[in-house]
Amino acid sequence: MFGKYVLALAVTVTVAAVGGHGAAAAAAPARPAPATPPQLGAAVNTVMLAGGDGRYVRTLLGHYGSVTPEYEMEMSQLEPARDRFDFARADRIVRFGARHGLPVRGHTLVWDEMVPAWVGAGHPTRPQLLQILHHYIQTVVAHYRGRVEEWDVVNEPLLTDGSLRPSIWERVIGPGYIALAFRWAHQADPGAALFVNEYGAEWRDAKEQALHRLVAGLRRAHVPVSGVGFQAHLRLDAHPPQAEFAGVLASFARLGMRLEVTELDVRAGGRAPLAQRLTEEAAIYRSVAAACRAVPACVRITTWGVTDAASWLGESQRGLPFDASYRAKPAWRALAAAVSRRG
Ligand code: XIL
Repeated sequence: MFGKYVLALAVTVTVAAVGGHGAAAAAAPARPAPATPPQLGAAVNTVMLAGGDGRYVRTLLGHYGSVTPEYEMEMSQLEPARDRFDFARADRIVRFGARHGLPVRGHTLVWDEMVPAWVGAGHPTRPQLLQILHHYIQTVVAHYRGRVEEWDVVNEPLLTDGSLRPSIWERVIGPGYIALAFRWAHQADPGAALFVNEYGAEWRDAKEQALHRLVAGLRRAHVPVSGVGFQAHLRLDAHPPQAEFAGVLASFARLGMRLEVTELDVRAGGRAPLAQRLTEEAAIYRSVAAACRAVPACVRITTWGVTDAASWLGESQRGLPFDASYRAKPAWRALAAAVSRRG
């Protein structure tokens, strides 16, 4: 399992940057502050939980109110061979959550990445792939029924231009894979909140508009979608103006969606002095939190990890609220202050 974690760090280097967004701001609607501030959550993983370093668990429990398994609920982890399910690592996180009263976000049922090799190797026909996906969703969601509060049912379904992201699901099943996944998840646990989760949709642009059309279409078709997750993998040189993100959130709130920031981090590498980069990073954390705070439907902000020492971005990007020695960074202070501020 350590290998998996190292692999995740290596993958970082090849992941495309979320850049290239214009900075044209849209006016944020004036809204009263919600009575309850958004809850703070963190992605956690079993390597760090079991790592023997009490600082990780102490920092987590001292500052966060919910958890997301960082990779333990990917399909390649949960069904590594056909019909052989392995819940051991994911169960550890769910038990940890229950023990400490932390709700768990399930991440993620259907994604174009982390699909185990056996799925494509059999060159499934459409009926065969439908059966594979139905069996997978039914088994996993039923296993965690009543214990996982909400699921990212479909992860990253769109490309930057707003078209559907190619995947084995989209290619073999067709665009209808999205609605089917939600219906099957709902059947397996009618009490779970079901999310579509996307990155790079924090700006008003083609991808964000396509996401809006996608969710509106699902609602019209009475598909049981309850929420939209905005990953918010941001960078010092690519982050949405606060008013623009608040406007995006408000437009999804009007669709009746529960909203969350699901994977917040900020790539803060570069040649500028570290103190300057950390100050700029904190301003981005503050702005994301303030945008969420301004929209009552935005109920949770999850950071994609706790400490820079274990970020998928690598420690040098300094992406998270706590440094490698578990000291709170300016980003933590900005985040904590912005979620609790009234008005
Ligand atoms: C990252 C994780 O940190 C890794 O552990 C994982 O294996 C893959 O990449 N969008 C997502 C997350 O939805 O699952 C990704 O997580 C980051 C991008």
